[in-house]
Amino acid sequence: MLHALDIAGMVCPNNVFLAPMAGYTNLPFRAMCTGLGAGLTFTEMVSAKGLHYGSEETKQLLLSRFPDDFLEGETPDAPLAVPLRGKCPREGAKGVSASAQNIAAPALMREGAKGVSTSAQNIADPALMREGAKGVPVAAQIFGSDPALMREACESEALAPFDLVDINMGCPMPKIVKNGEGSALLEDLPLAEKIISECAKSGKRISVKFRIGVREGEEHAAEYAKRFAGAGACMLTVHGRTREKIYAGPPDYGQIAAAKNAVSVPVIANGGVWNRKDAEKMMERTGADGVMIARAALYNPRVFCEFTGEEKPSLLALFLREAEETRALYGERFALVFMRKMAAFYLRGSRGAARGKQRLFATASTEELLSLARELLPD
Ligand SMILES: Cc1cc2nc3c(=O)[nH]c(=O)nc-3n(C[C@H](O)[C@H](O)[C@H](O)COP(=O)(O)O)c2cc1C
Repeated sequence: MLHALDIAGMVCPNNVFLAPMAGYTNLPFRAMCTGLGAGLTFTEMVSAKGLHYGSEETKQLLLSRFPDDFLEGETPDAPLAVPLRGKCPREGAKGVSASAQNIAAPALMREGAKGVSTSAQNIADPALMREGAKGVPVAAQIFGSDPALMREACESEALAPFDLVDINMGCPMPKIVKNGEGSALLEDLPLAEKIISECAKSGKRISVKFRIGVREGEEHAAEYAKRFAGAGACMLTVHGRTREKIYAGPPDYGQIAAAKNAVSVPVIANGGVWNRKDAEKMMERTGADGVMIARAALYNPRVFCEFTGEEKPSLLALFLREAEETRALYGERFALVFMRKMAAFYLRGSRGAARGKQRLFATASTEELLSLARELLPD
């Protein structure tokens, strides 16, 4: 099922993509998934309005490259990017002490340190873990409802490094929908088309990620596909669930297949792909050109190795590297909150996971979190 995919001249080395996930698909996570074999990765959705108003936090979500000398010398005292404060607003309230601000000794954060076994060396080559490495393209996702602002975002410097800009037409969150954004655009197709055609005028490759419908029993994936491709999208991702379903239940293969058959641009199928077997079933039933994986990659980013056949690095090794990069890029406070969640995901399904999770969330510094991860995560 694995093959290279040409999207309007952008060649993805394979057709298994990492989905955009708000709060999760930051640069270190995307780079890790690229290193593990994802054929294309997406930033989380960023607000066109936020870019227009020059929001630092929005710009930061669009970090696309590690600095050239990143982590080659000493870990910098200050993070390289502005800390993502907005992402962990209640942290202080959880009683995280000032010591949480102290950075673990750089030596402890180095790959291979603290007895991380040789499997860690599989991912120790920084060149392989870089986003954009091995010629893997990078994509950003934006959301909004104003065609002019969406085009402006596509033309912005912040989006310049990205090979493709994806438009979110699937988000079910009430605060997005009530602004007429995300999946609300499925209820105003002329506006959706206008947004796509304006964005396409920017000269960027434009794709759209959408759901098969808003309500159960009212699915229109083929019509959406035809209209979006007609308006200028060069790739479509179909999440095979309605908005009403949020993330529950199996994907509707028939609707995805109908979308695929309605257009000539590549169609990527999304929803409920947890492993290679699911992906093969998805491709077989829908005829899609590729699959996009979301939650499975959060719980186990090594899912991409199932497609490439590459040896799976240990979860612990992956965790340590991700923690190191997250801390250096975004700062101690964000790294602690974010990496606790990642560790809990990586523990999922293992024996004692519930107790392990409690202990992870009680850690008050990255140093403490790392040492607990060494105890809990399989090497
Ligand atoms: C935590 C989380 C955040 C998400 N954020 C986004 C997002 O920013 N943009 C988007 O298009 N979809 C987003 N999604 C939806 C996923 O990209 C994907 O469509 C959905 O999870 C179905 O795929 P899955 O069954 O493989 O998880 C998010 C999903 C999750 C679980």
